[in-house]
Amino acid sequence: MTETPLDPLDRGEVLDQMNLATLRDVQEVSMDASHLAVALAQVQQLNAQLEQRNRQLTALHEIGRTFSATLDLREIYRAMFREIAQKLLGASHLLIALFDAETETLTCGFAIGDNEEFDPSQFPPLKIGAGPVSDTIRTQQPRMVDLETEYFSQNAKGHAELIGQGPSPKSALYVPMISNDAVIGVMQVQHYAAAAFQATDLTLVSILANQAAIACENAQLYATVQQHAQQLEQRVAERTLELAAANQRLTELDRLKDQFVSSVSHELRTPLANVKLYLQLLTRGRPDKHDDYMQTLHRETRRLEKLIDDLLDLSHLDLDAAAFYLEPTDVNYLTTELAQDRIALATDRGLIIDCQLTSDLPPALIDPQRFTQVMSNLTTNAMTYTPAGGLITLSTAVRPQAGSDWLTFTVRDTGPGIPERELPHIFERFFRGLASRKSNTPGTGLGLAICKEIVERMDGYITVESQLGQGAIFTVWLRPAC
Ligand SMILES: Nc1ncnc2c1ncn2[C@@H]1O[C@H](COP(=O)(O)OP(=O)(O)O)[C@@H](O)[C@H]1O
Ligand SMILES: [Mg+2]
Repeated sequence: MTETPLDPLDRGEVLDQMNLATLRDVQEVSMDASHLAVALAQVQQLNAQLEQRNRQLTALHEIGRTFSATLDLREIYRAMFREIAQKLLGASHLLIALFDAETETLTCGFAIGDNEEFDPSQFPPLKIGAGPVSDTIRTQQPRMVDLETEYFSQNAKGHAELIGQGPSPKSALYVPMISNDAVIGVMQVQHYAAAAFQATDLTLVSILANQAAIACENAQLYATVQQHAQQLEQRVAERTLELAAANQRLTELDRLKDQFVSSVSHELRTPLANVKLYLQLLTRGRPDKHDDYMQTLHRETRRLEKLIDDLLDLSHLDLDAAAFYLEPTDVNYLTTELAQDRIALATDRGLIIDCQLTSDLPPALIDPQRFTQVMSNLTTNAMTYTPAGGLITLSTAVRPQAGSDWLTFTVRDTGPGIPERELPHIFERFFRGLASRKSNTPGTGLGLAICKEIVERMDGYITVESQLGQGAIFTVWLRPAC
């Protein structure tokens, strides 16, 4: 195809058009260049933001790691200061004030300034009042504060007092720490430079404050769990001790039971062996000694009877099978009755029985039958172990002891007395002492044990006072009926 030549006029027009087109192109190109510069700046800005965001995320991640690695609040606060306040925001101070809504007081939870950590207890608690912390508690809103203008005077002074002399921070962030919809404290980040913080920093510190609130909560939960664990441990230790003591008691009871069984069989065997021997002698021995043999047989059977009676008594008392009927009882009357019953026997043995009764004795709250058994056992002992010519005194009285009045019944004798080393064992089952051995008196060693059981079942107790060669004094302490 051939081109049609242009006429001169047309040529001029074409040239004009060409120039115009070139101009547009140049304009477009320069416009693209300025767009590019703007876009580049935007990209650079975005990149910077991204990097900043990246740094923030890394720092938060670092704190998160501390968070999951430790329950130590101070360790977490330290990481918050190091990773965020110091590294990212260039701040100099991180302070945590804790708020107690009940008492409306603020206490220091953590304070670090210029890398120096302070003991929170050195800051005395404060009532909520005027100031950035109190304002943050009240509004529950995070805020950026220009310390120089807004709170300069009191804050600067406060700072100098608390954290030492030197330059005061000029700008600060105050963020409420909220847990379960309640403000539990305020996190403060302070910077020496004026207007050092931006809105994004406030967001970042808000995240920190949330984490700090959770850390506080965790620490509290942990403390509660620890306390429970400690209480539990203590309970277990106490129970273990109780069980050990119970076990020891059972072992001791088991030992006593074994001892009891072997003592009983021994005590039964001796008279039985004698009975067997004298029965043989009756058939094979000397006929002129028959009366002697018969007397021994009677004595041994009486001994067996007494032993079996005492054993039955004790086992009844042990099994709680013996019924006690407590009633107001005139102990003077029972004493007189007993003395009268024994006077003939005493005279026969060359002993004197004397009664010294307190005239205005109140009635005692006892089982009269059971108590008669006690009086009888004690009087029998006195008469058994006191040699002829001795004096046995039965007396009653009202005596104060451990803050209350007791009614007492006492048997005193002028017999051989009891050696000191025997006194702690005198009420033990089967215990037979020097007096019984010396006088070669038959007995079971159960009389005083029975007395003790009976008296204790009536809410009373029994005591003994004696010295070798000085006679013995047995006293029963009883509850008055009113
Ligand atoms: N009045 C007393 N004087 C001296 N010793 C006594 C007196 N009463 C008891 N005893 C001592 O206490 C021991 C235990 O007394 P008890 O239990 O009545 O048993 P028993 O009289 O059968 O031996 C006696 O063996 C004796 O050694
Ligand atoms: Mg006796």
